[in-house]
Amino acid sequence: MQTLRTAAEAAQAARRLARPLALVPTMGALHPGHLALVASARRDGAAVMATIFVNPLQFGPTDDFARYPRAFADDERQLAAAGVDLLFAPGVEEMYPAGFDSSIDPGAIATRYEGAIRPGHFRGVATVCMKLFGIAGADRAYFGAKDAQQVAVLQQVLRDFAIGPEIVVVPTVREDDGLARSSRNVYLTPAERAAAPGLYHALQGMADAVERGESNRDRIVAAGRARIHTPLREAYLDVVDPVTFELVPDIATAGSAAIAIGSGWLGSTRLIDNVPLNVAAAVAHDGIHESVAG
Ligand code: PAF
Repeated sequence: MQTLRTAAEAAQAARRLARPLALVPTMGALHPGHLALVASARRDGAAVMATIFVNPLQFGPTDDFARYPRAFADDERQLAAAGVDLLFAPGVEEMYPAGFDSSIDPGAIATRYEGAIRPGHFRGVATVCMKLFGIAGADRAYFGAKDAQQVAVLQQVLRDFAIGPEIVVVPTVREDDGLARSSRNVYLTPAERAAAPGLYHALQGMADAVERGESNRDRIVAAGRARIHTPLREAYLDVVDPVTFELVPDIATAGSAAIAIGSGWLGSTRLIDNVPLNVAAAVAHDGIHESVAG
């Protein structure tokens, strides 16, 4: 694996790689979720390019930019072992040199949920990803399903500007107790770590309610809330359209896919997660109600 630090060198090296070229953008502090992205990229692509860049633009003033975990040597070793061909690991000055003055505003989708809690976050994500996409010129880019709103935001921008790469979404990798793998899990104290799967259990409670035929958003959310216990504190639980991240008031009549999204605080660490909802179950149950009523 070749490691390059400048955009010009990385762009030149990427152009020489075999096609289709698969890109795995990361902020480092790699965990099995990242390695699942690389494994998917390896399976689909003739060559794989990864990036490691802790992007200051996507951290707000009260976010954890300074303390975000950094483990470059170990990350580099893991990516090489996983079969990555090219690693681009720029510094902040390289990505945002003096005079860099553009940004991508993804619009309304970036103001909801994560965007409401972290104003400017998705502008930072979209801006850095557009620059990484430009440097790599990849055919496909790989992102984890855990960050569903990030995926939806990037799809929106790529759709709006009619540009590639194609986004490939890789299923969330979980610990045995259901906790979604995240670089931020290292912040959790042992007591917080023990409580952390509660977020996934709440989302599963929402999915179970749908399986039983519940389609109303308020009642689905209530089923999730019933599983949130101290020390876990809810930041949000909701039922949304996975493309627009607009709230879905009733999944039986929405007619499209719906996902349960959630975020919870443990001390000063905030976790996010999501699960798909079986819209067909709610629709089928709605049909039964209608035929009984009719
Ligand atoms: O998901 C991440 O790790 C980051 O948001 C990304 C996509 C690498 C952009 O900095």
